[in-house]
Amino acid sequence: MRDPYPLLRSLLFQLPPEMAHGLGLHSLRLSEACGLAGLLAGPPAPRPLTRMGLYFPNPLGVAAGLDKDGIAVRALFALGFGSVEVGTVTPRPQPGNPAPRLFRLKPHQALINRMGFNNAGADALARRLEALRRQPLPGVLGVNLGRNKSTSNEDAASDYLAGMDFLYPLADYLAVNISSPNTPGLRELQAASALRALLEPLKEAQSRLATRHARYVPLVLKVAPDLEAAEIQEISELLLQLELDGLIATNTTRSRTEVAGHAHAAEEGGLSGRPLEARSLDVLRQFSRQLEGRICLIAAGGLHDAAGVRARLDAGADLLQVYTAFIYQGPALVRRILADL
Ligand code: FNR
Repeated sequence: MRDPYPLLRSLLFQLPPEMAHGLGLHSLRLSEACGLAGLLAGPPAPRPLTRMGLYFPNPLGVAAGLDKDGIAVRALFALGFGSVEVGTVTPRPQPGNPAPRLFRLKPHQALINRMGFNNAGADALARRLEALRRQPLPGVLGVNLGRNKSTSNEDAASDYLAGMDFLYPLADYLAVNISSPNTPGLRELQAASALRALLEPLKEAQSRLATRHARYVPLVLKVAPDLEAAEIQEISELLLQLELDGLIATNTTRSRTEVAGHAHAAEEGGLSGRPLEARSLDVLRQFSRQLEGRICLIAAGGLHDAAGVRARLDAGADLLQVYTAFIYQGPALVRRILADL
């Protein structure tokens, strides 16, 4: 069967990006409910692996932000993804930044977003995941946690702790997101002393919750690609000291070098997609050298083809995540990447 996505995409791309995103996600959910989502993808090539004590049917996952409120999780699994990371979720619901806040840079197969953690809040997500969990899931469910815009960095730990309280029992792993460029000041939490002050209480909460729920839920950190070598070294040392379970490298970039001259290049926000590929790979390599395979490495940022996947795996990645390439290539991306693994 010919891939129907190019046609669908040309229709969706007539719409403003955020509207297209919402429509796409709801259509995906509906197609799964009608038993059609699996047909779009075809049978996925199995390549199971166990990381962080979790069984992944294959290493390719959906990156955070695509399904913030967890409305299309089963549909995304039906397309063949081995994991889905929902969120970023904040303790209290928040509307995010004013629109327009999502921009396509088509010639670069890229996006710029300044969504600002628009989400329905931790309580709403917990209810949805509770319902979802009544039937077993075919892959790994990650939950990505953030802080509310109105919470200061000094009080950030209390927001992440609240997120853990709500969502620990419903997640297979939890991701601590301190790398969005769209919550003022958030990335400052990547500085070593701030990061230690944040992660220590989260590790304590993890062991407390593990006892309470009789289940250990791995905790991973998600970092920006805009880090200097010295920062990468400091963060790596801390991750090993505190025994975090994994690292997601990377979030979106503030850099615009690769898209200079595009009409949207000057938009505030994070750039994702192909222009991010080299930068994310470089940051992954640096972390990989520091971490020496001692914690799980999840590669994200500009992944769009089999060669790129190969490069991340060669650089030491255990798992992979995509977002922007899925918007540009649709469900066939999953089949293409998995077929080559
Ligand atoms: C994101 N990303 C993101 N990351 C995160 O940790 N929490 C979030 O809420 C979001 N939201 C979000 C919205 C939009 C519109 C985009 C494009 C991206 C970042 C995403 O998970 C990923 O790390 C980067 O986009 C890099 O991967 P890709 O898109 O180049 O494959």
